[in-house]
Amino acid sequence: MAGDSVLSQTTQSVKEEKKTFEKKIKVGIIGTGWIAEAHIESYLQMEDVEIVAAADLIPGKAEAFMETYGVKGVRFYPSHKELIDNEKDLDAVSICTYNTAHAEPTIYALEHGVNVLLEKPFTVTLEEAVEVCKAEKKSGKLLSIGFQPRCDVNMQMIKKIVESGVLGKIYYIQTGGGRRRGIPNSTFIEKSTGGIGALGDIGCYSLDMVLNAIGYPKPLTVTGYKSAYFGTNPETQYADRFHTAEENAARFSVDDFAAGFIRLEGDIVLDFRIAWAMHLDTPGDTIIMGTKGGLRIPSTECWNGTVGGEMTIYHDLAGVQMEEKVPILKDDGKGLFYKKVRSFLDAVVNGEPAPVPTSQILYNQAIIDGICKSAELGHEIEINIPEI
Ligand SMILES: NC(=O)c1ccc[n+]([C@@H]2O[C@H](COP(=O)([O-])OP(=O)(O)OC[C@H]3O[C@@H](n4cnc5c(N)ncnc54)[C@H](O)[C@@H]3O)[C@@H](O)[C@H]2O)c1
Repeated sequence: MAGDSVLSQTTQSVKEEKKTFEKKIKVGIIGTGWIAEAHIESYLQMEDVEIVAAADLIPGKAEAFMETYGVKGVRFYPSHKELIDNEKDLDAVSICTYNTAHAEPTIYALEHGVNVLLEKPFTVTLEEAVEVCKAEKKSGKLLSIGFQPRCDVNMQMIKKIVESGVLGKIYYIQTGGGRRRGIPNSTFIEKSTGGIGALGDIGCYSLDMVLNAIGYPKPLTVTGYKSAYFGTNPETQYADRFHTAEENAARFSVDDFAAGFIRLEGDIVLDFRIAWAMHLDTPGDTIIMGTKGGLRIPSTECWNGTVGGEMTIYHDLAGVQMEEKVPILKDDGKGLFYKKVRSFLDAVVNGEPAPVPTSQILYNQAIIDGICKSAELGHEIEINIPEI
């Protein structure tokens, strides 16, 4: 034990030494819509960061955004391209554009030697994700995908439970979630901007919660389903500041419900469903079943970053069937977005691997893409992921 504490002191001092920045990290923000707020609020808490540039397709939007936050001296651009072309000293960009504009700006930034924190979902299609991974590999730069629930202590506990071996070999998982009514509208509901609906928006988080816990095995086949009965119905759509319920129903061109039955490497099956709207309170708890134990995670809006309540581990002890509760752990209060952005920058500065690497999220995207393709074809398909 004495050895352990000496080792941890050494690790600590090395880390602290690495975190002494010689110059400020120069950051740009691409896309200054809703989620960019969480990025800038995090950056503004970091004294080693300088926000130097911002871009948005909508004229004046990036300027108004920076004014709201009182950030001075920022250079503004009409799209990601001009920003990357002109900002020669950039260390990193936050890409906060809608889903259909994830791949192109990310590839462009990587090709120009800029590290990228890309919002989720990774992309819309698997093909785009593969192109991004190729650009990342070629560039040698760092790309991390914005899954902030990964920073939550209770989410991390799920992975620790699986890795402890208490569940044995995992063979079946059920996950997903949804809202009785919760269609986001804005740019999320049109194919030209959102690309995919509930499946990409919140489904990617449910998939990440369980796949990250079990070490991201490769997906092999999928039977997928998707529908849009609520989004396209003016009676279950919403009016917002800009559109009536009828207009939003007419704009709606993505899924509001999706489901999939996925075979994963290692003889594991994953049963998944996700909804932006449904006639149900929840489509069920997340369960992870193993040969030695089972884990129940109460139905969770995991995209908000934590589990839905005390988890339960079911296992046998000396022939007795036991149930153990896993208490909810208290977070350190720094905020999941702050930790997401900080862990990305720390990895950039210290030359460490991406906190949420594309090697994992490529499989997440392959499942989402597989569900879409299988749903369109109406039968099971093989998931083929090209070598990067
Ligand atoms: N991590 C989270 O919790 C979370 C939450 C909400 C949204 N998101 C993700 O963030 C992304 C953006 O969501 P949002 O709600 O902020 O969308 P939004 O529509 O409010 O903002 C996107 C902005 O990007 C701009 N844009 C698009 N293409 C551009 C380009 N090439 N160059 C410069 N600007 C460009 C648009 O003009 C728009 O202002 C989505 O992919 C979404 O899934 C993540």
